[in-house]
Amino acid sequence: MRHFISMNQLSVNDIYSILSDAEKYRKNETSISKQLFAGNLFFEPSTRTKMSFIVAERKLGVEVLDFHMESSSVLKGESLYDTAKTFEAIGANFLVIRDASDTWFEELEQGLTIPVINAGAGKEEHPSQCMLDLLTIYQEYGRFRGLNIVVVGDIKHSRVARSNAIALKKLGAKVFLCAAPEFIDETLEFPYITMDQAVELADVVMLLRIQHERHEEKAETNNYLQLYGLTKEREKKMKKKAIIMHPAPINRGVEIDTDLVECNRSRIFKQMENGVYVRMAIIKHVLQEWGIYNENSIEKRE
Ligand code: CP
Repeated sequence: MRHFISMNQLSVNDIYSILSDAEKYRKNETSISKQLFAGNLFFEPSTRTKMSFIVAERKLGVEVLDFHMESSSVLKGESLYDTAKTFEAIGANFLVIRDASDTWFEELEQGLTIPVINAGAGKEEHPSQCMLDLLTIYQEYGRFRGLNIVVVGDIKHSRVARSNAIALKKLGAKVFLCAAPEFIDETLEFPYITMDQAVELADVVMLLRIQHERHEEKAETNNYLQLYGLTKEREKKMKKKAIIMHPAPINRGVEIDTDLVECNRSRIFKQMENGVYVRMAIIKHVLQEWGIYNENSIEKRE
């Protein structure tokens, strides 16, 4: 795993290895003794991903070179590629990047000599979100095979849906999709079901935000909750042990009734907590591949 870009690149062994390390990090803080610098280049807004990468990096003992696009030379026209090369030149040992383009990674592959971790690529992939979702499901069920996972919402514009569909299929889960007609993506080869079918079938209801920022016209959200969302009435029909997930940010009262956001079934804030541990594990795995990090360079913090 030279870079962490797509769930397609990860073998089942890679996935379980990251999940196992994330669990170790959850139980015992460690840090890298050698001085390393991380460049976090977020060209799109982020709260959870950016902040949990910072916490993960600091817990590992990595120095964070924080970057604020609105006060950077991007405003003078500097490209993503030249920004990445600049961070490499000034000593970043790896980069964490989010951008609105689906394929931003392609322009970096030839010229960059440090590892890159994908923190969100357009509507294509969000693999670190996927890994924290997998950890959350695994903590709940201890397996993926045979689970019914229904991904609900704006499938067409969701990088989370794409990464999770790839990984969950690879791990043997049964993936179903549920969306309003305008949010259906026919390129994803999974069966679509209705929301009423979803709540009765699912072991995991994975809700998605309406991605207004990727729409050409503003989507109509009146009646969305009743027609396509998780209402309190629908929640009552869920299986006894079924859980609710959402990558957040949440449109309360649109894709989910606000009273369900923190209900007993909800793992939404657990997902965020898990984000720190899986991002620590992802950084470790990528740096190991480049020979930048090995077990001897780790200091245990008791
Ligand atoms: N889930 C997620 O990617 O959230 P942020 O956009 O806040 O990082």
